[in-house]
Amino acid sequence: MSKVLLTGGTGFIGSHTAVELLEKGHEVVIADNLSNSSRDIVDRIEKITGKRPAFYEIDVADRGALAALFEKESVEAVIHFAGYKAVGESVAKPLMYYRNNLDTSLTLLETMARFGCHRIIFSSSSTVYGALSPCPFREDSPVGGCSNPYGWTKFMIEKILQDAARADEQLSVVLLRYFNPVGAHESALIGEKPGGIPNNLMPFITQVAAGKRDHLNVFGDDYETPDGTGVRDYIHVVDLARGHVAALNYAEKHTGTEIFNLGTGKGTSVMEMIRAFEKANGLTIPFVIAPRRPGDLAFSYAETGKAETVLHWKAEKNIEDMCRDAWRFEKGLL
Ligand code: UFG
Repeated sequence: MSKVLLTGGTGFIGSHTAVELLEKGHEVVIADNLSNSSRDIVDRIEKITGKRPAFYEIDVADRGALAALFEKESVEAVIHFAGYKAVGESVAKPLMYYRNNLDTSLTLLETMARFGCHRIIFSSSSTVYGALSPCPFREDSPVGGCSNPYGWTKFMIEKILQDAARADEQLSVVLLRYFNPVGAHESALIGEKPGGIPNNLMPFITQVAAGKRDHLNVFGDDYETPDGTGVRDYIHVVDLARGHVAALNYAEKHTGTEIFNLGTGKGTSVMEMIRAFEKANGLTIPFVIAPRRPGDLAFSYAETGKAETVLHWKAEKNIEDMCRDAWRFEKGLL
């Protein structure tokens, strides 16, 4: 069992990962500046698991504060979630994205080296594949060609981590390329809570269901997909969180860099998702067909064989589980 630092550990994926790690007996330390989350998430994690993670309200780019955390806690591994993640905002404020996402990562790596911590798992994204290759995306498919600064920060941080591992033979780096995380913990105590207008499909659907928005805009119905709407590989956030536990076990035994896709391998279109949500929850989601959203791909789904073979991890929950749990969480907010 390890003592694991989760940067951004009160966020959507971080909080679910904290739960899965605690349930497997790991010790969890969270560092989060609460820029897109809140302190009560720590209470909720405790409510689910019966164990309270240590919590530091700090900015990971604050070298002094991060060093003080490492002084106090003997951190054996880090899972690095902290970062800005809104695609559209990154186009409007590129420097803010590059500064924040790169600064936090560099400060973290330097601090880890200073305190002799040699294991890091990074929250990367399938967005690094860009439009360079056809689906399914494989870990050895070409990367780059990202359509926005957010995606490029993921690409650049992957590169920084790979170079750091090349230069330090003790370092173990695992890059996890997430596909489309949705859903919520089945307790409905933690889930996705975007501020303002949601960028992503599932939180938009749940807000329409809750009556917070009157309809969903379907961004394009003329893609070269079976029903013309965009196809994505949606993965339940609890499955995704369990993928981090598997990656941590892997990182304990290996050095160098390894890359894994975390997806289901199955594509679902926007229209299929609307219908699945309606069926799972007995609701109707009003929608209108709107123009394509710039930067969107027709298809994005994973080749999942490597994670299955090497990490012994596989997503188990289906679209119905994702729709049911996402709605159960949204209802809890009403
Ligand atoms: N969509 C709509 N209406 C909406 C929102 C989304 O039709 O209101 C469609 C999109 O056009 C796309 C699909 O739903 O076809 C999924 O869109 P999301 O915004 O939910 O997800 P993306 O695949 O665009 O982006 C997600 C993450 C990014 C990450 C990317 C990697 O949000 O952080 O996956 O592929 F970079």
